[in-house]
Amino acid sequence: MLRRLLGTDGPLLVPAIVIALVLGALASAFAAVAGWFDPGRLTPARMVDALGRRGGDPVGHRRNHAKGVCFTGSFAANGAGTDLSTAPMLAAGRYPVTGRFAIATGNPLAADGSARVRSMAVRIVAPDGQEWRSGMNTSPVFAVATPAAFFAMVQAAMIDPATGKPDPQAMPAFIATHPETGAFLAWARSAPWTASYADQAYYGLNAFILTDARGTGRPVRWSMRPETAAAAVAPDTIGADVLAGDLAERLARGPLRWTMVMTLGQPDDPTDDATRPWPAGRREVVVGTLVVDAAQDEAHGPCRDVNFDPTILPDGIALSDDPLLAARSASYATSFDRRIAEQVRR
Ligand code: HEM
Repeated sequence: MLRRLLGTDGPLLVPAIVIALVLGALASAFAAVAGWFDPGRLTPARMVDALGRRGGDPVGHRRNHAKGVCFTGSFAANGAGTDLSTAPMLAAGRYPVTGRFAIATGNPLAADGSARVRSMAVRIVAPDGQEWRSGMNTSPVFAVATPAAFFAMVQAAMIDPATGKPDPQAMPAFIATHPETGAFLAWARSAPWTASYADQAYYGLNAFILTDARGTGRPVRWSMRPETAAAAVAPDTIGADVLAGDLAERLARGPLRWTMVMTLGQPDDPTDDATRPWPAGRREVVVGTLVVDAAQDEAHGPCRDVNFDPTILPDGIALSDDPLLAARSASYATSFDRRIAEQVRR
């Protein structure tokens, strides 16, 4: 019957059609398992769309931490990290750094005092070309533990086009249903505000795994502790555009320094939940000093076209099981692709 329908080429076409049907069925099964047919699936595009709808015009800018300033400097490793990891930039020596300070906002023109969280991002390059990229925040814990909860939090902050403001009920409702935000909110309520990037500590928040020369892995969370003493100010006295100017003024007087600290986790410490602090008293190893020499406007500076994807790591530092890391990588790539294309069009 089939052969009659297919005419004289039937004998050759039958196996081809069978193969095509089998491949089609496999592709459909794959797409279904991957969630491609599910319109509610959380994709990097949906995440980045939502991040870009929190006020201001994000076109050409990072969709999160949208307002910032580039810096350059070096990482002076003291060698203490070599007992913990084979990462080449932990061997005693000095390695070039490109970085960026920013405020955690979706609006590239946001007032500096409007964002509770500030950030430092670094790219440290080893002589063999390996890179260590890291984005760190001023809060010692993150607000949420999963990509889905992060998306829900961002949605609660999205601007309603009808009112020009977020739904006033949305964030309280989000917080009420996400008790894991507690430690972050306690920090946000109590930590002093300052008018400088220079006097802040920055925390990597996600856990990573350091691997030593014997192949032994240890969980770690890292942070940058400032040499500059914090000067607390009332939040409503922070000018709209003071942070970049303060940085430039300080750097005109000399470099700024941060000590890099590795906090080592114990076996029961959570590596998959950035909302939960590790118990106090965990072993800390100072592995070196970040020296910031100069700052540059981000529109033309060396950090503009860097994607500070936290999954770009050298040998000797690996990802943990924290689900935020893969979501960060995918969303940063989408944000990067958009802003680079938009800059070309501008
Ligand atoms: C699922 C969770 C997260 C998502 C979806 C997300 C998303 C984003 C996106 C899209 C950007 C802009 C990237 C670019 O265009 O280059 C960004 C920037 C940034 N994020 Fe996240 N983020 C998440 C979690 C975190 C966490 C846990 C931290 C802190 C450790 C963090 C710290 C930063 C920093 C420091 C920047 C600015 C990097 C720079 O200066 O270029 N993010 N985030």
